[in-house]
Amino acid sequence: MDPLRMSHLSPRKKRPRQTGALTASSPQDIKFQDLVVFILEKKMGTTRRAFLTELARRKGFRVENELSDSVTHIVAENNTGSDVLEWLQVQKIQASSQPELLDVSWLIECIGAGKPVEMTGKHQLVVGRDYSDSTNPGPKTPPIAVQKISQYACQRRTTLNNFNQIFTDAFDILAENCEFRENEDSCVTFMRAASVLKSLPFTIISMKDTEGIPCLGSKVKGIIEEIIEDGESSEVKAVLNDERYQSFKLFTSVFGVGLKTSEKWFRMGFRTLSKVRSEKSLKFTRMQQAGFLYYEDLVSCVTRAEAEAVSVLVKEAVWAFLPDAFVTMTGGFRRGKKMGHDVDFLITSPGSAEDEEQQLLQKVMNLWEKKGLLLYYDLVESTFEKLRLPSRKVDALDHFQKCFLIFKLPRQRLDSDQPSWQEGKTWKAIRVDLVMCPYERRAFALLGWTGSRFERDLRRYATHEQKMILDNHALYDKTKRIFLKAESEEEIFAHLGLDYIEPWERNA
Ligand code: CTP
Ligand code: MN
Ligand code: MN
Repeated sequence: MDPLRMSHLSPRKKRPRQTGALTASSPQDIKFQDLVVFILEKKMGTTRRAFLTELARRKGFRVENELSDSVTHIVAENNTGSDVLEWLQVQKIQASSQPELLDVSWLIECIGAGKPVEMTGKHQLVVGRDYSDSTNPGPKTPPIAVQKISQYACQRRTTLNNFNQIFTDAFDILAENCEFRENEDSCVTFMRAASVLKSLPFTIISMKDTEGIPCLGSKVKGIIEEIIEDGESSEVKAVLNDERYQSFKLFTSVFGVGLKTSEKWFRMGFRTLSKVRSEKSLKFTRMQQAGFLYYEDLVSCVTRAEAEAVSVLVKEAVWAFLPDAFVTMTGGFRRGKKMGHDVDFLITSPGSAEDEEQQLLQKVMNLWEKKGLLLYYDLVESTFEKLRLPSRKVDALDHFQKCFLIFKLPRQRLDSDQPSWQEGKTWKAIRVDLVMCPYERRAFALLGWTGSRFERDLRRYATHEQKMILDNHALYDKTKRIFLKAESEEEIFAHLGLDYIEPWERNA
């Protein structure tokens, strides 16, 4: 399906009304007396509403069929706070208390937990407009706390549940095109727009919904408007048809090929990989040679089952040399992604001496080479110095020892059959990154290697809002002129004065 078509915005078919499940629970079934829930049918539909009502009641929640002034929690799906307020205004009931306006995700989490869960920013519906306008006729609505969306991704919760994919796909493509053209400012603009839209608990269906959302400048809003009206953006369409974009996309899909090489090949007139490969005058790096050799495997994404199988083998090898080492899968898989372009691991050992630590990755490479599990590796030595100040650059690379490799994953290491494996194939090439860090740096390294746009904004936040410098190794307080220690990611967030954001909420 064309990701730019607005298929999911087409009006839903009306289903026949189902009233059977909407019978009220008897008082003895209610476990949570001070909570009175009302589920909004608008945009959710009768069937789903009945289903959620039934589930919630079974778990002991009091769910009302009708809106009344005793309702304390209003739950809605695909509605903005403004939508709910508007709906409330046309109801004849005056809610005397101040009901919470919540996204359905809150109720679903409550049902899952079997008890009320804490309401956080990600659950609370955003009110984009000021409804306190006294000239506004009609019934007064309860004052609702306006939840302001931060311009920093590290102050937002971004799960993989993206309600605005039609827009974020468009901005991701535009950002990538700017990256290929080395237009950094526009690239950042589009990335920030995509990032903030990924965090919204509702789908944008009209321009009114964009009010009060940061990182959406006039250029970005113009594109959103066009997508709302036409179902697609002419600019995105032009980029997808652009020769330079298509060539760069293709060339950079080869392991070891970056912007510089792509630029060179493009200028030389190459447009396909087969032409590049068969050109005798071109010299390829060892990395690119491996990239071409295992191209098909490497472009087909890594599944979670494959990542888990690699994880078992990484741990086995690491523990053969450092039995006390911690091996943590980081990157996209730690953020809950089901697919990745590689598998990232952070390794750290509390008890080992510096030279034991320094030799580990080489020992693991030797072992795997002997076992025939290694197709390529590039070991980068550490350039880490203990007293170095954290880097000011938000996307600076770190100084830990690391290894970029291509692993030969044998089929028999997988529990289940993988859809991407062809009949008769006995192994698959998988990109793996291993990072080794000193034990006292593990919290910073883990935060950095868990990644996404979130990480960059965390550094930007530290610099601009806290006068601190954060990178993958350390946190430095410029006012106090000291390094702040941390044993866990939670402690780093606390030093920065931020609410803790779980890894799966960092998909910015
Ligand atoms: N990283 C880094 N230094 C590198 C390479 C990566 O610090 N030389 C960090 C990046 O900042 C990123 C994380 O490692 O936050 C994971 O990078 P990567 O594997 O490229 O991205 P993922 O988020 O894991 O996405 P994917 O599923 O595509 O692998
Ligand atoms: Mn990764
Ligand atoms: Mn990686």
